[in-house]
Amino acid sequence: MSYNNIIVETAFPITTITINRPNKLNALNKDTIQELHEAFKALNKDKNIKTIIITGSGEKAFVAGADISEFANFSVKEGGKLAAKGQKLLFDYVENLSTPVIAAVNGFALGGGLELAMACHFRVASENARMGLPEVSLGVIPGYGGTQRLPQLVGKGIAMEMIMTAGMIDANRALETGLVNHVVSQEELLDFCKKLGSRISNNSPVGISHAIKAVNAGFKHDSNGYASEIKAFGECFGTADFEEGTTAFLEKRKADFPGK
Ligand code: COA
Repeated sequence: MSYNNIIVETAFPITTITINRPNKLNALNKDTIQELHEAFKALNKDKNIKTIIITGSGEKAFVAGADISEFANFSVKEGGKLAAKGQKLLFDYVENLSTPVIAAVNGFALGGGLELAMACHFRVASENARMGLPEVSLGVIPGYGGTQRLPQLVGKGIAMEMIMTAGMIDANRALETGLVNHVVSQEELLDFCKKLGSRISNNSPVGISHAIKAVNAGFKHDSNGYASEIKAFGECFGTADFEEGTTAFLEKRKADFPGK
């Protein structure tokens, strides 16, 4: 599949998606959101891809937000549609993807950029990264899940402060608040994420996808996390991955999971 705004590179079992609009600091326009949706959908179907890393091109930005030039003249109805469509195609889609997605935050992650990083299963930042939700400085609010996912990750008080001040925090503050899991140098960032990806990829894709579902269920108002965990746990027993994982343990060998 060919794309205009993203680069998709696979070295099995890991794929790296690079958002590639460096002149616009990788701002998310409509076409980029659509391309990301197509890429995630295709990669999720591929049995041989076990971890996806998403990053931004260049040394300055992960993603500097939704493309402001595209919505500056929108009406109330168009604004609502923009948020709903973006959440469905990309942000909720990534959060609920059964393949693990790591955000490699290599620079500015602002507005929709931080919202994309927060929709990923977890985040690693480079030392130069700056993160924030500056939407209220534009007279709008975060619309791609930021008002929900930021408090989930850093707590309500810190999220409120970040949203109200529209300010940016640096990588160390992001680490301290739990917004990112690790901070490394920019040169190390992708290799560090790939190493994490390799460790993840040794484990059962079926187990991982069920764990993602159960963890996410605890953050949804229309589901019960504990009940979802019980269901997902039980379902694992009927899978070839479970048979292989337990057999390999008893035979004292490394498991070779059939996967997705
Ligand atoms: N949407 C559209 N274009 C954007 C953008 C965005 N969110 N963020 C940056 N760009 C564009 C700039 O317009 C500029 O384009 P130009 O060269 O054609 O004028 C280019 O990217 C480089 O950005 P610039 O502002 O010149 O870089 P800087 O180093 O001076 O500042 C930022 C960097 C990130 C502080 C600044 O670009 C910024 O504040 N961006 C908007 C962040 C934001 O509010 N995001 C939330 C949107 S809801």
